[in-house]
Parts: sequence; structure tokens; C-alpha cells
Amino acid sequence: MCELNNFDEYYRIAEELVLYAGKIIEDGINSRKNIKSKGIDWDLVTEYDRKIEDKLIKQLLIQFPSHKFIGEETVAKEGCLPQLTNDPTWIIDPIDGTTNFVHRFPHTCISLALLVNKKVEIGIIYNPLMGQFFSARRHCGAFLNGKSIKTSDMRDISQSLVAMEPWLAKDPQYLASVYSRMHALVQGTHGIRSLGTAALTLCYVAMGAVEAYHIEGIDAWDVAAGKLIIEEAGGVVIDTDGGELDLMTPKVIAACNQQIAQQLVDLIKKADCEILHKNLN
Ligand code: IPD
Ligand code: CA
Repeated sequence: MCELNNFDEYYRIAEELVLYAGKIIEDGINSRKNIKSKGIDWDLVTEYDRKIEDKLIKQLLIQFPSHKFIGEETVAKEGCLPQLTNDPTWIIDPIDGTTNFVHRFPHTCISLALLVNKKVEIGIIYNPLMGQFFSARRHCGAFLNGKSIKTSDMRDISQSLVAMEPWLAKDPQYLASVYSRMHALVQGTHGIRSLGTAALTLCYVAMGAVEAYHIEGIDAWDVAAGKLIIEEAGGVVIDTDGGELDLMTPKVIAACNQQIAQQLVDLIKKADCEILHKNLN
């Protein structure tokens, strides 16, 4: 049941702040940016990522001084991932799809989630460039620009459109497995898509634009808000091995329903086995 409680106030303030942060993305998209890499040359950050994260944390702290924060850029600066506790915790990705933002590819967003007792209670993902404001509160449904959204009712992976991201193949350790999984998806589905923003792609599962999404090597801030938005739209988000998702080290299969999720788990397992056999022979 959707209860009226403190979450109304948390949601109201979060929505206001995310809309404001959207203006920073709009201002920045066509501006000259100070682009840096975070250790690996293709993991980019700009002054806009930091500006948005600082603004969100500062304003949320004024309203909720006892709340905790896990923000992508703060973690990058401090070099360590804080432990998730039962305390109210805001998980922030100030710009998800920073590479898109740098290249002016208009799929980029702010992702903000509130967790209490380690459960996501509020999820907001906003792409100001496409005017898409996705939101969810636990047990209250999922919305795009205030209108209720639902996942696709497809039950057959071979008839599905599936999103995945091959960038992990840049690391030689994962190259064979990424290409094998990609090959299995190309052969076993209607088609694959790759957007370069995990948070928004999760929303595309929620709104029924793709049936499923698979990604690994990402972080809690890429997934927290989108997980709730998908679940509230009728879908599921599980671990690649078919078990429960660990939000702090996510290996993601997001799907419109359990059947598609399971078929994707099986397809990936088969692809991984094929590499193993090739390596043994
Ligand atoms: C990235 C995006 C991308 C995913 C990367 C993330 P960022 O987030 O979500 O889709 O494949 O792993 O790091 O760096 O743009 O916030
Ligand atoms: Ca980011």
C-alpha cells in the first residue's frame, strides 16, 4: 500500500532538486567542458558532474542533516566506497552517461535514490535533454512525466529487444565473455541496443521500450533508482547468476518480467559455457 508519511516530504524535496540539477545539464551540454579521466582514460568526469553532486548533497543535508550519502564523485574523490547501513541514505549519480554528455549524445541523466533499511524507497531519474522525468516510490507505482508506466508483457526472449553495453570488453580479462554474450544476444533476440547510460536504460525497461537489459562492472549509483522504477512498473532486477541483486556490487539482469529474466540468465550461462569449452579444447 502507498502510505503517506515522511516520504512525501523526502520526495517533494528530491524532485525539486533533481529538476534544478537538470538545468545544470541543459546549460552544460553545449558549453566547453573541463574533461578529466578518473584513472582509466575512458572513465570521464566534468566540472558539471561535481557541481551537481555538490549541490544535491549540500541542499539535502540542509533539509535532512542526519541522512547519509553515497555519491559517485565523492567516492571517486575519497577513494573508498562507504558501507550501506540501515540509515536513510541518498545514492547519487549526478550525471549518468558522462561520456554521452561530453559528446552531446542526448541520453544522459541525473539518478537519485533514497534507501531506508537498505531498501530503495524513492527513485528519480531525469533526462532534461529529452524531457523525461522518471519516478517511483515503493508501493506507489512508476511514472514518466507523471503518467503511470508498465513494463512490456513479452514472455519470449527471441521476440525481445535487449539492451547491453560492451564497454567491459576494453579490459582483456572480459573481452571473450562480453563478445560471446553479445553474440548470443544478437542471435537469440530481435536485436540489441546500447545507450551508454545504465540508469536511463533501466527506465527504458520500465516503460516497455526494451524488454531487458544486461550490464556488469557498474556501481550502486547506476542502479539504485532504476531498480525501484522497474520493480514498480512490474519488472524485475536480479543478479546475472539468477540470484538476488547485490546493490553495492551489481551484476545486472533487468527485465520486464521473471520469465524474460530467467531466459536471459540461461542465455548468458550458455554463452559463458561456450567460451569455457573453447578454452579447454
Ligand atoms: C556509466 C554509464 C554506462 C555504464 C558505465 C557507467 P557514468 O556511468 O552508466 O552506461 O556502462 O559503467 O560507469 O560514468 O556515465 O556515470
Ligand atoms: Ca556519473
